[in-house]
Amino acid sequence: MTGIRNIVILTGAGVSAESGIDTFRDGGGLWEQHRVEDVTTPEAFVRDPDLVQRFYDMRRAAIQTREPNAAHHALARLDAEWPKEDGRGLLIVTQNVDDLHERAGANRVLHMHGEHLKAWCTACDRRSPWRGPLLDRPPCPACGAAALRPDVVWFGEMPYRMDEIHEALREADLFVSIGTSGAVYPAAGFVRTARDLGARTLELNLEPSQGSRWFHEARHGPATELVPAWVKEVLAAR
Ligand code: APR
Repeated sequence: MTGIRNIVILTGAGVSAESGIDTFRDGGGLWEQHRVEDVTTPEAFVRDPDLVQRFYDMRRAAIQTREPNAAHHALARLDAEWPKEDGRGLLIVTQNVDDLHERAGANRVLHMHGEHLKAWCTACDRRSPWRGPLLDRPPCPACGAAALRPDVVWFGEMPYRMDEIHEALREADLFVSIGTSGAVYPAAGFVRTARDLGARTLELNLEPSQGSRWFHEARHGPATELVPAWVKEVLAAR
């Protein structure tokens, strides 16, 4: 992998699976007999705000009891050791809304689907760090309105910071997808964008994803084995 300067990494739920955080499409994707897709939409929030708030209150509490795994720590090591100067870059674009990349020590992380540990005020539009429940309509820290929602991108809403992501894909020499099914766009399309713009593409996943055919190389197995081995390899070839 010589000549690599800019790396873009896309992570999905599979990178947090071995930390005990359920993925979306393994194991049926159900919560209290609701399909996850039925509680993660703006329409669901209008129809039954308490149901949606309870779903996210449960997930927000759950992630605070989990720890980063060897895959998160390996990516944090890469973030620390991969050169930042003279236009060499690294960006970890995550679809995950947990904070395990950050708790492992990674800094160059972009949450395209938002974050469990933030609340978004629908009255004043401010986002605030948030660890507790939202079900009991607490006041917004900025404006006081009882108008806080999870700062998570729902189906049908625009993912965050897409311009920055596309800029990084344009500069990428290497695109690595870790622990994602390739089922949800726009993230599922990043591999083709990167490949069309000349990047090498690598998939690290438990099993072939829906986009496996677009990758130059694919390695299948648990992230806690594949990711540390790959990070060691890419740092050795610097
Ligand atoms: N190691 C590596 N990969 C794993 C592991 C593991 N231990 N366990 C599961 N996987 C893989 C699965 O094989 C699957 O391909 O992780 C992927 C998880 O896929 P999804 O559950 O679809 O999660 P993700 O791809 O992140 O979903 C994308 O969909 O529901 C929306 O917004 C939500 O961000 C989410 C998006």
